Formats: sequence, structure tokens, C-alpha cells
Amino acid sequence: MSLEKMKELQLEEKFLHPETREVNGILMAKMISDNWDKIWNFQAKPDDLLIATYAKAGTTWTQEIVDMIQNDGDVQKCQRANTFDRHPFIEWTLPPPLNSGKSARVSPTGLGPLSWVSFHPRGKSFLQLEGSEMSSKSQVLESESPTADLVLCPTVVNLVPEASISQGLTQGPQHSLDLANKMPSPRTLKTHLPVQMLPPSFWKENSKIIYVARNAKDCLVSYYHFSRMNKMLPDPGTWEEYVETFKAGKVLWGSWYDHVKGWWDAKDQHRILYLFYEDMKEDPKREIEKILKFLEKDISEEILNKIIYHTSFDVMKQNPMANYTTWPTSIMDHSISPFMRKGMPGDWKNYFTVAQNEEFDKDYQNKMAGSTLTFRTEI
Ligand code: A3P
Repeated sequence: MSLEKMKELQLEEKFLHPETREVNGILMAKMISDNWDKIWNFQAKPDDLLIATYAKAGTTWTQEIVDMIQNDGDVQKCQRANTFDRHPFIEWTLPPPLNSGKSARVSPTGLGPLSWVSFHPRGKSFLQLEGSEMSSKSQVLESESPTADLVLCPTVVNLVPEASISQGLTQGPQHSLDLANKMPSPRTLKTHLPVQMLPPSFWKENSKIIYVARNAKDCLVSYYHFSRMNKMLPDPGTWEEYVETFKAGKVLWGSWYDHVKGWWDAKDQHRILYLFYEDMKEDPKREIEKILKFLEKDISEEILNKIIYHTSFDVMKQNPMANYTTWPTSIMDHSISPFMRKGMPGDWKNYFTVAQNEEFDKDYQNKMAGSTLTFRTEI
């Protein structure tokens, strides 16, 4: 079956925005509140590295830099799987199957009765699997992406004819923590949790943490566009509505202001490297060198230059293992707004009206009063 033909397959059911719940006063996706005990009791290890950020602060960029460092600049190794699989996102679960998993919602016309295709958001782009030996085909999938898990792929379930659905495919979603628990050490993990909600084992085990912060206005703009294209996030509403929602901290993972301040205060008591998106953009070499020092890693000038190049916005935008284009468009629709959107400090000026900006600044002064933390809103 050609790639074009697979692309023509239309899902009848579009993915819907998730329900939300508060956990300790912070807005979270319901899947997080449902799993909260498991998340809170996650067992970190001393050699874990955690990349912590407020959403849209440059998480994926930092993940790519760290992975390149850990793999001595080997681009192929860094393309072993997409970002989501390389670094488990500890509080997240992929959404449950779009339907019950009991039947093929999309007619697999042209495929044999026991043939099936998948569009695997967690592996390498399209996979076409044919034949009746389900278990051996599953192994093919696993070897394509070592941490891939069919249970986590809603589209697979949608496309698999009833006769092919094995026990494993109908068990429902699996938490990213399970991926983390299966992963050999040393592990690199990701979180957007505010500091007070980080599982306590990270503090107890003294795991290293890299925190990346980005100025509020660019974060807001980026989060707004991401919420438009990503159906796993609540509907952002209009731009005007979203500005107010963000200021009130009624977005997933809560208030930007409390997040950046909370982690800023924690950095003096724990092994936390606190970085700024704007600094990374201004001088990636300088900031990558800070990460190298924090990770106690030495690399040659040649590898350092390779890392700078490979993790630049333009190169990452073309990298399917880093740009989220392997996810189904029913979840992330890059035609609405690409994940790798602009990557530019100061883009907020294209969105805020003069009045919105003045009000935002006034509110900002109040919320950030008393903190030594400062940001640059342009470079
Ligand atoms: P924009 O929407 O402003 O373009 P996260 O990974 O935390 O979700 O952050 C995504 C933001 O980081 C997006 O911002 C994205 O474009 C930007 N980004 C990703 N990789 C980048 C890179 N290599 N250089 C600069 N910005 C990058």
C-alpha cells in the first residue's frame, strides 16, 4: 500500500480536547489527576537527569541538545526514536484509543483480512505491516523503535481489523512512567510539573535537573498556538480569551509566574541548572557549554559545533524525530500551526495590542514582585 494511499485513510472520529481537573490547586489533564498517586510515588534514581520546564519554554530543544551530548554528537543515534520515546514525559499518558478498539473504524479497503497498517506516533513515521503473524510483526515494530508500545497508539487500534486485535492492543493506555521504569539507566526524563509537585524521590536521590525558562509573553504566544494545533490540550478559545486564561494561570500546569519563581527558588538548594531560552538563542555555544559542565562531560570543538548545528531551529524543524510530525494529524495538526513554529524571542510583539501589553506588564509587576528573577522579552 503506498504512502499516499495510507494518507488518504480518513479517521471518522476526530480527537477531542481532554477533560481537566485540579491537582493541589493546579490545572492538569484528567489523565494526570487520575494517575496522581503513581506519579507522586515515582522512584527517581541518583543518575537520572530531569529536564523540567514550563510548557513551551524550549523543552524539545533542550532534550535534543542533551541527547546529542549524551551520544557524543552521533546524529543517527539521536534519531533512534522520537523525542517522546527517548525521554519519558513522567506525568503524561498518551490518550486512550479513539474508539473501543473492538472494530476497525477505518475500512482497510485493499488490505487483506489480516493485514493492517499503522501510523505510529511513537515510532518511525508510517509502518506497513502485513500478514497474519501478529506476534512476529509486533517484534518488527519493537525493533523499529525499542520503546514503542502498541497499546499507546490510538490510531493503530483504529486501523486494526477486528480479527487482528490481540490481547495487548485492547488493554488501554499505558503511563509514560512505565516507559521510564523499563528504561535502562542513566535515564533522561521530562516534566512540566511545578516544583512543589515534583515527585519527592527526585530530591531524595539528588538527581540532576536542568530547568529552562522562557519569558512570559513568548511562552504565552507559543502555548496559544500549540493549544490550537494539539488536541491533547484544552481549547484555547480566542486570542483575547487566552491572554486572560494564561494570566490567571488557568492553563495546564498552572501559573507561569509561580512555575518560574518556584524553580528559581529551588535552584540554590538542589542540583539544578537554571537556563533561559533567550540566552540559548543568543549564544547557543555558551549555553551548551554550561550544560556540558553540569553533566561533567568533555567533547571536542568539532562535536560541539555539530551539536550547535544539529540543534538549530532550522535543522530541528526538518527532523521528524524532533518536530512531532510523526504524530497523527487527528492529535497534532501542523497545518493549523507547526510544532516548530518560529523559535524567535520577541514574537509576542506580533500578537499583543498596545493595551494588552500595558495591562500584561502591570499584572506582571504584581505577580513577580519580590523575586530576583528577571527575563528578557527580546534579544
Ligand atoms: P515557538 O512556538 O515560539 O516557535 P517546547 O519544546 O517546550 O514545547 O517549546 C516549543 C517552542 O520551542 C516553540 O516555540 C519551538 O519553535 C521552539 N523551539 C524548538 N526547537 C527550537 C530550536 N532549536 N531553537 C529555537 N527554538 C526552538
